[in-house]
Amino acid sequence: MKILAINGSHRKGKNTAMMLELVLEEASRLGAETELLEITDLDIKPCKSCNQCLKVPQCSIQDDDMGMLAAKIKAADGLVLGSPVYFGNVSARLKNFMDRTRWLYLLDHISLSCTALL
Ligand SMILES: Cc1cc2nc3c(=O)[nH]c(=O)nc-3n(C[C@H](O)[C@H](O)[C@H](O)COP(=O)(O)O)c2cc1C
Repeated sequence: MKILAINGSHRKGKNTAMMLELVLEEASRLGAETELLEITDLDIKPCKSCNQCLKVPQCSIQDDDMGMLAAKIKAADGLVLGSPVYFGNVSARLKNFMDRTRWLYLLDHISLSCTALL
């Protein structure tokens, strides 16, 4: 089993990272393969609302790190998102990442509805 944690903090190795490491340590103790990604290290362009993902299961933005991240998400059995609280919400960095996962979310629903139709 693979557990992927994504840190939405701007600060590597600080509070959010420490909490995610605790979660991953426990998962590892129970036998999981774990990985922590710091999105502050990654180039993730903002969603431009082109809505291509409503038609094809792919994001139109291909020249950043989101493709690599999507491959890791698809390969993982579990995903843990961590973020500092910023004005009662997740960080802008994490929200930016979340917006870019829309095609993955739609892909999941497409396969679910196909299963239901079969
Ligand atoms: C712009 C900004 C907004 C914040 N808003 C909140 C908030 O609404 N509530 C809160 O409890 N802490 C807030 N904080 C504090 C952070 O959530 C807190 O310091 C957090 O532990 C930082 O995580 P990190 O060490 O992973 O960066 C805010 C910090 C910043 C920089």
